[in-house]
Amino acid sequence: MQKRIKLLTRYLAYYSKAQNYYRVHSPFVFEFSKHVLEDDRLFYAFDELENLRKVLLKNRKTIQVTDFGAGSQVDSAKTRSVQSIAKSAATSPAFCQMLFRLIDLYKPKTILELGTSLGLATLYHAAAARNADIYTIEGCPNTAALAQANFKRMEVENIKLKIGQFEQVLDTVLPEIGRLDYAFIDGNHRKAPTLDYFERCLQYAHNDTVIVFDDIHWSDEMEAAWDAIKAHPKVTLTIDLFFCGVVFLRKEQQEKEHFNLIPSRWKPSLFGSL
Ligand SMILES: C[S@@+](CC[C@H](N)C(=O)[O-])C[C@H]1O[C@@H](n2cnc3c(N)ncnc32)[C@H](O)[C@@H]1O
Repeated sequence: MQKRIKLLTRYLAYYSKAQNYYRVHSPFVFEFSKHVLEDDRLFYAFDELENLRKVLLKNRKTIQVTDFGAGSQVDSAKTRSVQSIAKSAATSPAFCQMLFRLIDLYKPKTILELGTSLGLATLYHAAAARNADIYTIEGCPNTAALAQANFKRMEVENIKLKIGQFEQVLDTVLPEIGRLDYAFIDGNHRKAPTLDYFERCLQYAHNDTVIVFDDIHWSDEMEAAWDAIKAHPKVTLTIDLFFCGVVFLRKEQQEKEHFNLIPSRWKPSLFGSL
């Protein structure tokens, strides 16, 4: 209950500062806002992937899960049904579709995801970047097997699924990637590990790398991690979308800036562009 009140308080703080694209002056951030948050086109891949989600949400088969991270607050049992994983761990349709548009905008050639789960977000990334090399890491072997089956079912061949703990697998995956264009950090939602993954990714990042952190306001630890990421000397621009934070390292951004952005349908401007 206390956690819910905290989350609500954080949402209200975010919402009060959040700008829709009418109010953004930076051309770079305006483009982000327009393309990633305002575009409401339904791509063919969305239907296919939401049909897969429906199938997973109906699947009562149970598996033994190995829980490495901060865990699901909804259902932390060791034996879990596929439907319960799909319900509580998978990224929501709206968020997946936003990530799809983000990938479509920046067109990364190398993509890294920490936390595959059933592979729904991975598949959205793959649908947006059919020629990219996509690496995704999952610690739980049984969950990873389900993800691999989903990749096969959707006939996607550019995803390399690595099974093991992030801490260990990153040592080999990052050198294999070499030049990291994009990372989605969606597992082990605690402060110290999150900052550790960030620092490791930075070693392979460049001026145009984009890094997305899931659930930045989910807990005190993630809130503290997000503050530390914003303050990092290599970070020049951040975009807080409440459910996730997007980090840019672009040197063209001469003064560090932090934005809270929101789609205009969630916070309309009373007077249009004023
Ligand atoms: C929130 S889920 C990922 C959801 C997925 N990205 C999606 O959108 O469908 C987080 C996943 O990260 C995995 N995980 C958490 N901490 C980990 C760690 N330290 N090493 C490896 N896997 C980890 C969990 O097993 C879980 O499946």
